[in-house]
Amino acid sequence: MEDIVDEILRLKRERKAVILAHVYQPEEIQEIADFSGDSFALSRKAAATDAEVIVFCGVRFMAETANILSPDKITLLPAADAGCQMFDDTLEPAVRQMKAEHPDALLVSYVNTPASVKAMSDVCCTSSNAAAVVNSLPKDKEILFVPDENLGSFAMEKCPGHKVICWHGGCPIHQALKREEIEAAKAAHPGALVLMHPECRKELRDLADYVGSTTGIIKYAVESPAQEFIIATEQGVMYELTERCPEKKFYMASRRMLCVNMKKTNLEKVRDALKTLEPRVIVPPEIREKATAALQRMLQITGK
Ligand code: 13P
Ligand code: SF4
Repeated sequence: MEDIVDEILRLKRERKAVILAHVYQPEEIQEIADFSGDSFALSRKAAATDAEVIVFCGVRFMAETANILSPDKITLLPAADAGCQMFDDTLEPAVRQMKAEHPDALLVSYVNTPASVKAMSDVCCTSSNAAAVVNSLPKDKEILFVPDENLGSFAMEKCPGHKVICWHGGCPIHQALKREEIEAAKAAHPGALVLMHPECRKELRDLADYVGSTTGIIKYAVESPAQEFIIATEQGVMYELTERCPEKKFYMASRRMLCVNMKKTNLEKVRDALKTLEPRVIVPPEIREKATAALQRMLQITGK
């Protein structure tokens, strides 16, 4: 009898689909994916394929970005209720209000936002390029940064002289990391380097040896001559880290770093999405056009 993985692979071929998995996804999902990585890189990879269907194993804003970059492909989000706890429906009206209060300011939005907020933005950024994006903007203009104040403050540290106003949002999983947890991990593994996501609070970032996006953390661990690392981001990255560096040792900074929304995807949902071509994510054309412009401005700045 055909097992579920074989069934998914067969359906994938029949549907001419590509399966994307964010590095926070459960292991069983990362194992079957065509590509794994960070959300924006995955959306770009999918856009460059001739697949007709994108299966985005991640959370809603990620599938929206994939659909913005590939409007002619069907975009499926197997875990239809997977949101991001960094923001909720109040973000869009709050950003509108912020813009009204600062009419001359430029709006920079992290890709972890709904498409409607990207559409209001002058430029988007990722956790890899937030500082480069802010730095490219004029110093005499106010900059509104949404929704993650930790990523905003990380960018500001690298861009002295820029006037940045951060919205008070954040990722509960990264923000919850405690100083005592890092100190305990360092005490238990004195030779290990601490690799941390910029969504963590500044007082914690100051204890890290490297701060960067999930892509940056993985690249750092692969290229570093060090053999032991304390990982301060969502625990899903452990799969890619141990796959890429089987000889190195990785320790989670905290066992609480688990994103429940990222764990809503399972093999059954992926199979059912391929079978039924549902649940779909469709960004309406008027929002898509404006959001595309903000994403393209980011690409012009970073040159990638
Ligand atoms: P990356 O863009 O660094 O993969 O992060 C995505 C995310 O959701 C962080 O919490
Ligand atoms: Fe959102 Fe945080 Fe989960 Fe990333 S880890 S998807 S920012 S809630």
